[in-house]
Amino acid sequence: MSRANEPMDHEYDGIQEFDNPTPAWWHLIFLGSVVFAFVYFVHYDLNPTSWTIHDHHRVAQVRELQRMFAEIGTLKPDERTILTVARDPKWGAVAEGIFASNCRSCHGENGEGLVGPNLTDDAYKNVKVVTDIFKVINGGAANGAMPAWGVRLHPNEQILVASYVALLRGKRLTGLAPDGEVIAPWPEVGADAPSEAPADAPAEG
Ligand code: HEC
Repeated sequence: MSRANEPMDHEYDGIQEFDNPTPAWWHLIFLGSVVFAFVYFVHYDLNPTSWTIHDHHRVAQVRELQRMFAEIGTLKPDERTILTVARDPKWGAVAEGIFASNCRSCHGENGEGLVGPNLTDDAYKNVKVVTDIFKVINGGAANGAMPAWGVRLHPNEQILVASYVALLRGKRLTGLAPDGEVIAPWPEVGADAPSEAPADAPAEG
């Protein structure tokens, strides 16, 4: 039992203490946080339909993609687009981001190869011409050892990352040894905008 404002029986080195009750506001905060934690736990961890930060993140990502792709239009998976679009610093950064989140785990930090082949040399297993890069990304290879991204990534994302992969060629990073056949160099294309832009559009920059 507390005896408010009366010193307790013990004393050490001349120091005595009161046995005052914890104030009501303290109890309220404590109980409030317990109740809040319970409601939070039930809502976010036990309720399968509640929104999580991952859902918010996904929606934000989709909105951002829509915003970006409204700007870039519908890309075509043709030679010129694949060889040019990631040269643009902005789209190059987007393409690198797509590679980083989906491809690094198998193709290595910079495409030097890990589970999947080195993408920085001149030898390829499934690629003869530059547009084959898009085909492999879109449809996968080796019975799914290379997953098909056609169902997971927006077509523009597949083309952007194909472009990133095309531009990795020739970096010859130390990693997995070349696998497959050495193929002819990519054709030369100008550094102008991707092919969906009208032919007379002024060059960017
Ligand atoms: C689960 C592991 C895995 C992931 C993730 C992965 N790849 Fe692959 N990838 C492979 C394997 C394995 C191969 C080799 C297939 C074969 O042997 O024919 C390959 C082959 C390729 C090739 C053809 C290379 C060649 O020599 O023919 C390209 C291009 C490629 N991947 C691009 C990508 C891109 C871009 C991404 C991300 C969007 C990606 N990969 C994600 C495993 C992966």
